[in-house]
Amino acid sequence: MQTETINLQQLLPVVEGWAREAGAIHFSYFRKRDLAVDIKANDYDVVTKADKESERLIISRIKERFPHHSILAEESGESGGDRWQWVIDPLDGTTNFSQGLPLFCVSIALQYDGVPQLGVVFAPYLDEMYSAVRGCGATLNGKPINCPPKNRLAEAVVTTGLPVSRHENPDNNLDNFARVAVEVRGVRLRGSAALDLCYTAAGFLDGFWEMDLHLWDIAAGALIAEEAGADVVYFRPGRPYSILVASPALTPRLSALIR
Ligand code: IPD
Ligand code: CA
Ligand code: CA
Repeated sequence: MQTETINLQQLLPVVEGWAREAGAIHFSYFRKRDLAVDIKANDYDVVTKADKESERLIISRIKERFPHHSILAEESGESGGDRWQWVIDPLDGTTNFSQGLPLFCVSIALQYDGVPQLGVVFAPYLDEMYSAVRGCGATLNGKPINCPPKNRLAEAVVTTGLPVSRHENPDNNLDNFARVAVEVRGVRLRGSAALDLCYTAAGFLDGFWEMDLHLWDIAAGALIAEEAGADVVYFRPGRPYSILVASPALTPRLSALIR
């Protein structure tokens, strides 16, 4: 079978445009009353009208241009058997969003044979567009970003998240949190894994780890972090995505604390 060639550099601004459109949908609901907050897995896992509309918009844009591509999207699942696959988190940080907190974003990645090739994370409230094409570096609003070479835990400000199963499963990252919190300058819980990855890529944070995430949370952000020069390590192989991202000098120090 002939393999389709895609000019990813030319595609990037198109995908950034889709992300901006999705961000406009987020904005149209942000801090309004008609969010229609629904429960998903449990009380700690929610979805809103904005998540669903954002996802519909992104999928329709993909289908207009690449009708044969596969799609994995958080709210509507997986479809297609093509080697090119779009991985979409239509609104990452839904709990923040539903509270009126401004840390939320849309995350879109394009993979080939399971390897991310292009990633875009757009935070509309912050007007921050993080982007990467494999092998071409990462950018924030068009300017190159590089993960700084910090290597001391005492100077590091890091971030993590807690799994939605934390209430019934004692294996819930709080042990890692306790070990890391006493070693670093600061630890944050910000509520958007995709943005945490991008903030680590840009050096606004020095590291991020979280366990049991989904591919849509991390596909774009992990590529952006990798392209910015961060180490991207998957701990707990065989489980859902458990990821640690930091500058290469800091990774072994964080790895020693996180299991
Ligand atoms: C969630 C956020 C959060 C992380 C959760 C994710 P959602 O995604 O990324 O930071 O801790 O594990 O599920 O539900 O807001 O798209
Ligand atoms: Ca998410
Ligand atoms: Ca989401």
